[in-house]
Amino acid sequence: MESAERLKKIPPYLFMELRQKIGRARAAGKDVISLAIGDPVEPTPDPVIEELGRAAHDPANHQYPTDEEKGMLGFREAVARWYARRYAVTVDPRTEVLGLIGSKEGCHHFALARVNPGDLVLMTDPGYPAYRASILIAGGEPVNVPIRPEHGYLPMLRDIPSDTAKRATAMFLNYPNNPTGAVATTAFLRELVEFARSHDIAICYDNPYIEMIFGGEKPLSFLSVEGAKDVGVELNSLSKPFNMTGWRIGMALGNRDLIAAISKVKENTDSGVFNAIQYAAITAFNRCADTIPQMLQIYERRRDLVVATLRQIGIEYTPARGTFYLWVPTPGGMSSLEFADLLLEKASVVIAPGRGYGEYGEGFFRISLTVPDARLEEAMERVRGALDS
Ligand SMILES: Cc1ncc(COP(=O)(O)O)c(C=O)c1O
Repeated sequence: MESAERLKKIPPYLFMELRQKIGRARAAGKDVISLAIGDPVEPTPDPVIEELGRAAHDPANHQYPTDEEKGMLGFREAVARWYARRYAVTVDPRTEVLGLIGSKEGCHHFALARVNPGDLVLMTDPGYPAYRASILIAGGEPVNVPIRPEHGYLPMLRDIPSDTAKRATAMFLNYPNNPTGAVATTAFLRELVEFARSHDIAICYDNPYIEMIFGGEKPLSFLSVEGAKDVGVELNSLSKPFNMTGWRIGMALGNRDLIAAISKVKENTDSGVFNAIQYAAITAFNRCADTIPQMLQIYERRRDLVVATLRQIGIEYTPARGTFYLWVPTPGGMSSLEFADLLLEKASVVIAPGRGYGEYGEGFFRISLTVPDARLEEAMERVRGALDS
């Protein structure tokens, strides 16, 4: 059976290919350690699980989770309080907040809500691969905006050709950044708002790593900058700060026209998140903020271990300040795929080749710190062994 043409334009999802490679190596009896995927292994906090149990027993939650079609008002109010408390951002929970099935869903529905067939849509390169798929499914044309180490992996907005900016209707970006770990500055966000305003570009500021920032630096919301709500939305999620990737819950906040448009797509696509999960998420916001510094400590310790190992194998590397990813230049001028294959073959360790994140990702690889300490230590030992020999 033929699939729709729009699907044929989408390159294979990087992580699917990686999973296949891992599967083949495991089938051959190898003990493969994957450092390729950003999926925390620490458990979801107990109070969240307990609240899910309580809410799941209430038959009122067994029906469609429709409540003004934007997610439970109680959930949206908890999101608004969280944003006020953590990021000094004020949003109206009735019109400026929308519940999501994770920020990935939000990216996709943002594209369907905003992008017309043939529109140019800007996205950073290297960038999160799902943006390209969402743009293509909506019929848009992705335009890669390079982000380079010499500019702190921030896009040089003024270098975007003016006819491209004029034709673009949306832009996707995320800081703290997957894959590079780079963080944004308030000055950059101001520039972004100005750029979006002057070209009528809707910003999809995907911010699921907002809490993943090291060295005591404060988390930075796009919406904390004046005028941001006029030009875009911020997407966020409980996946990473509360170890809840499997629960599938997140939120979109900001421009009320965009929120209404995304909500309209969702009303006609899904019926929202199981109410019991929304209650559990409220508990995460209200009672589990103290798990975040503990989580940062875990990642900081793992970061130090990987950086020390890289140094031992001759890669001098200073990690960026955000996310649980390390974005590292490949050694000896190897391509990112060559290096990934070498590590899989010699060490049974999987890393994510930078090329999978775009043309400008070539020459880099990404290590995710979301594996248990003992496995990471074992992986680093194997990498040392493989590259010393
Ligand atoms: C940049 C970025 N956006 C969105 C997501 C998806 O997050 P969620 O679990 O909230 O859908 C990820 C997950 O890795 C990500 O890296």
